[in-house]
Amino acid sequence: MYSIAVSVGAAVLLFILLVLVCHLVRQRNLQSNEDVKRSIQSKATASKPLHCLSLLFPRSLAPSLPGPPPLPFLGNMFELSQDHLPIYLTGLARQYGNIYRLRCGSTTMVILNSSEVIREALVKKWSDFAGRPHSYTADKVSGGGYSISLGDYSEEWRSHRRLAHSALQRCVAESLHCLIEKQALYLKQVLLDYKEKPVDLSEDFTVATSNIITMLAFGKSYEKSSVHLQEMHGCLNKIVSLWGSPWISALDSFPLLRKLPNAPFTRLMREVARRDELIGGHLDEFKQKKDSKEGQDFAAPLLQYLQSPEGRVPKMTLTDSHIHMTTVDLLIGGTETTAAWLSWTIAFLLHRPEVQTRVYEELNSVLKGQYPRYSDRRRLPYLCAVINEMLRLRPVAPLAVPHKAIRDSR
Ligand code: HEM
Repeated sequence: MYSIAVSVGAAVLLFILLVLVCHLVRQRNLQSNEDVKRSIQSKATASKPLHCLSLLFPRSLAPSLPGPPPLPFLGNMFELSQDHLPIYLTGLARQYGNIYRLRCGSTTMVILNSSEVIREALVKKWSDFAGRPHSYTADKVSGGGYSISLGDYSEEWRSHRRLAHSALQRCVAESLHCLIEKQALYLKQVLLDYKEKPVDLSEDFTVATSNIITMLAFGKSYEKSSVHLQEMHGCLNKIVSLWGSPWISALDSFPLLRKLPNAPFTRLMREVARRDELIGGHLDEFKQKKDSKEGQDFAAPLLQYLQSPEGRVPKMTLTDSHIHMTTVDLLIGGTETTAAWLSWTIAFLLHRPEVQTRVYEELNSVLKGQYPRYSDRRRLPYLCAVINEMLRLRPVAPLAVPHKAIRDSR
């Protein structure tokens, strides 16, 4: 009892300290924010690519790197709670260079801010940086570390990723193209039905991308008005946005705060429970139908392949928790990213009719009336350039996902 009271007392003191320092530092940050903004405005050309990525180095390498001065105990927490973080971090790179350091509690982060250094870390020396930092909140969101996107490098993680990858490759070879074509034709009809009305297409893009993944995973697609679809996406989007809140990230660096009530974290956990209930329902339905006669018409190729991997006998088979989190990874990783990219692409193409015409001419001359397949991409260089340019102009995930060095790197 005494120790609980002491912990709670310490947490309350910490909280008060946090609020006080927050107030003082905000004054300082407002000033430095203005400096950074001025520097960005004066130096930025029309639209520079933003390549930011944080890597967590072994501590031995970190102290020699430049970076904004950390506050005692809090480190650079306030730099990390800026509203437009990618733009803010790019501003800091102008001051400290393309490789600089930030501290949060006892964690040292290294920010990489140019395509050259990112390529060196994640492509040339990928095996040095193959880990993911362990985090309390990531563990909570991923059901205890079962997700591919958040899990740290280990033999189990490698086998999980390899099995998910080979299941997806089988889907690509056997059914993905038909699914995408069906969804694309449906989307085309939806767009034609708007006639000349002004519209916001973002929801239609989310429905189309989500339906491809739910068809692969559960053998189901949904109408835009479906309550189930709205609920699932509302829930996934809330998880992503709540998780970005500084009140939740602070729990990773300051364990004492976990003992205090935290409304955003409670809401996050409620959404995670709802997500698990929705996805768990689909997985149970799949299991029940799989062996029944009904199951013969129930196409859920991804789940089938995840449960019965082919080829080399794998070192591990996936548990229900792995399969559950693989489905979450694909839904969260694949839906809003692709939908946001589509929305930006349409917005830019509307302003550049000459680019629309060149894409159309290339498709016509290369495909001669056929619908494109993934394998046609090498014959469609202009279309590929447009796709890459959109990802450069409006990066969908500008901060990527943090990596962790698993050994010293030279
Ligand atoms: C415009 C589209 C997309 C963008 C910009 C994007 C961006 C990213 C980024 C930056 C990462 C982190 C990579 C790293 O840490 O090295 C990532 C990982 C991941 N993405 Fe995507 N993604 C997109 C589409 C998709 C789609 C369509 C799916 C699935 C259907 C997907 C599933 C995943 C998964 C499972 C991971 C974790 C992989 C791993 O840790 O090895 N993403 N994505």
